[in-house]
Formats: sequence, C-alpha cells, structure tokens
Amino acid sequence: MSTIQIEGLRPLRGEIAVQGSKNAALPMMAAAILHKGVTVLEHVPRIRDVFCMIDILKTMGCRCEFEGHRLTIGAQTLSRIAIPRSYVTAMRSSIVLLGPFLSRCGEAATYYPGGCSIGSRPIDLHLYGLRKLGTEIEERGDDKIAARAERLKGCEIVFPYPSVGATENVLLAAVRAEGTTVIRGAAREPEIESLCRMLNGMGARIRGQGTGTITVEGVDALHDSEFRVPGDRIVAGTYLAAVMAAGGRAFLRGIEADQLAGVPELFAGMGARIRREEDGIGISMEGRPAAVSLETRPYPGFPTDLQSPMLSVLAVSSGSGQIRETVFEGRFAAAEELKKMGAQIEIDGRTAAVRGRYPLEGAEVDAPDLRGGAALAVAALAAAGETRIRECSHILRGYEDICRDLRLLGAGIRSNTSG
Ligand code: UD1
Repeated sequence: MSTIQIEGLRPLRGEIAVQGSKNAALPMMAAAILHKGVTVLEHVPRIRDVFCMIDILKTMGCRCEFEGHRLTIGAQTLSRIAIPRSYVTAMRSSIVLLGPFLSRCGEAATYYPGGCSIGSRPIDLHLYGLRKLGTEIEERGDDKIAARAERLKGCEIVFPYPSVGATENVLLAAVRAEGTTVIRGAAREPEIESLCRMLNGMGARIRGQGTGTITVEGVDALHDSEFRVPGDRIVAGTYLAAVMAAGGRAFLRGIEADQLAGVPELFAGMGARIRREEDGIGISMEGRPAAVSLETRPYPGFPTDLQSPMLSVLAVSSGSGQIRETVFEGRFAAAEELKKMGAQIEIDGRTAAVRGRYPLEGAEVDAPDLRGGAALAVAALAAAGETRIRECSHILRGYEDICRDLRLLGAGIRSNTSG
C-alpha cells in the first residue's frame, strides 16, 4: 500500500476490534531475550515495526514464529551481540535491546539512532542508566556504541525526565542484575506497566510500575511464559479522533478506556458522547467539535502520539485552539500537509494555533511520519471530495490496516499498492 484514497464527508458508524499495542509489543519482544527459553506473545500487531524487530531477533540468533497474532520467541540460541546498523536506522526503538543484551551476554554493540522527522531523539538517559548499573560504554567513531558489563549491579537511578525508552531499557537490564535497582523519575505509561506485568509473569520481581518509582529486585533466572499484548491506546485514540472529525458513532472493542488517560473526557468536553464499557469504549459525535487548547505531556498527560490526529480534529472545530508540543521538538510535520487541505494552522516554535473550518478540501498529500500519516486520514474524512495520501508506508509502521478499520466504520477508503 503506497497510496490511500479517501472520499470524505461520510459519517462513521460501526464497531472494530483494536489491534495490539505497538509500543507494548516491542519492549516485550526485547524482554524475551532475557530468558534462555520460550516466550509466547498473543495479540501482537502485524505491523512493520514488529516485523523489523522479528528480523533483528532472528539475525541475533533467536527463533521466531509469527502465526496470525501469536508470536513465539525462542531465545536459547542467541549468538550475536551486534545489532546491524540498517536495523537501527529502520527502527530507532531498537535501542531498547541494549539492556537485555547486556544482561544476557555481558556485552552488546549498536549505533546511535540519530535524528528523525519528529526530533533529535538523543539516548543520553539510556546510557546514563546502563552506566549506573555497571556498564562500560565506549562511544566509537562512526556512531558506534560498544557496551560491556561483567555483571550488572543494582543501584539507584534518577531520571531527570520520564523517558519511556530509557525506563524500559534500564528495567530490562535490572531484572537479572545483582541486588536491587530503584528507578526514580520513571515513565508511567501503561506500556511500562504491561512490560512489568509480563516480566513478573516470567519470574521477575518488580513493584511500583505505574508510579514514578519502580523497584526491581534482581533474580537469577526467568522461566517460559505466555502474555497477551494489550490493545493499542494510540490506535484507539486515532479512531476516536476520526469520529470527532467526521461525526457518527463507533465502538472500539479491546481497549481499556482508563489507558486513554484524559482523552475521552477531552473529547466529551468538545461535544462527544462517550460510553465506557468493560470491553471497550463507545463514542458518538454530532456537529463540529468545540475548539480546545492543550499541551502534550508524558502519561497521564495528553499523548504526543495523538498530537497530529488532534491537529486534524481542531482543524474542523468550530473555533480556535492551540496545541503545544512539549515532548518532541519537531513534531508538526503533518501541519504543512493539512494546510494543503485548507486547514488554517500557524506554527510558532512548539505551538500550533489552529482556526477551525468545515469542511476541509480533498487534496494530494504525503504522509510525513507514522502518526502524521494517520492524522491526514482523519482529516480526509472531514474533507469534501477525494484525498490521496502518498508515502503511506510510514502508516504501516504502526497501524495494522487503517483502511480495513476505517472501512469497517463506514469510511469511503481504499488503498492502492501500485502508488
Ligand atoms: C516512546 C514511544 C513513542 C512516544 C514516546 C513518548 C515506543 C516504541 N515509542 O518513544 O511512540 O511518542 O515514547 O510517549 O514506545 N529523551 C532524551 N534522552 C533520552 C531519551 C529521550 O532527551 O535518552 C527525550 C526525547 O528526545 C524526547 C523525550 O525525551 O524529547 C521523550 O522521549 P521518550 O519518552 O524516550 O520516547 P521514546 O521511548 O523514544
């Protein structure tokens, strides 16, 4: 699928099952390396980042079988410790493998992930935490990082910022370290909680997950386990945004509404009716959403991953609002594309000021990144005529099949592989 075509202005109506979470599944796959045995993950999304992680694990000597949404990882045969550069470029979050490799093999090698379209993405907090645990890290020329640790040792780690990836990396390294590790200033995202639940199911001893202080008592060995990846709260949030922009009603099955932090309340304040059920969340929306102003924040604040879809909702709102991006500095790439659809957006540094208008106009646009691409699909649902979104491969990194899902909700959407 390289192009998506959307015929806008059809209200949505329907029910879909939300795919498994990308940001939960990736560190869980990394966690499998910690155990010299078999780990089974259910409800794994069939997305590009997952396939990339499978390729990395296979390259490093693991056995991976991916049938439907069930992924079996056998890590008995881990045989390499250097992650090839091409994988680091393809998926920056591969940095989260450093901790597990160190724990399992005593050494690891990778590359600086470098910048990307949403910001510079440094890894200083990852390296700080791993060094505190006793890792010697050599930063060589050509962006290469070589890490070595005879034995990781529990310690106190204080993060000045609750980085999701750094918290995961250090957690994974600490699980089999000697003694107790206390992580202060830890990220509180639901994906960290899921990872800790999974690790505890493998025999780890972690407490405090979901709070800013996580304590890990090192254990000598883990055991075979099976775990279900939770529903993807960002995918669910994207589809809630779709209903906000296009109007209509939808039920999203397989998502814990609580994980969406304040997003359902925010949408309710903009005019939606929200129904929280045990097995999912329902939304109905009539008319244009009221404008709001907000800023992105680490969990439980408004997620940066929903900032671009939210830009699309504000673009069709009945007033003027602002979004301030505090997590990633360069994340307004979708704005330029939305403007081609008639959106009225002014970017000033980290702030986007949006004046709503309805409808937008169908146009030819390019998906700038994963969430920015999804935001264009949201906007296209509220645009007159046809929108063609090119460069859709970005969207496949995180959405299993956005066309299938939106079609199930009644959208006029189709994909074209030939471009
Ligand atoms: C994860 C998510 C991503 C989400 C982000 C924030 C995965 C695979 N990705 O990314 O979808 O947008 O959390 O919720 O789970 N930072 C540093 N030094 C570091 C690490 C991070 O300065 O060592 C900065 C980053 O540049 C950024 C901020 O901290 O400005 C947040 O980054 P972080 O929480 O680490 O995000 P990721 O783990 O990369």
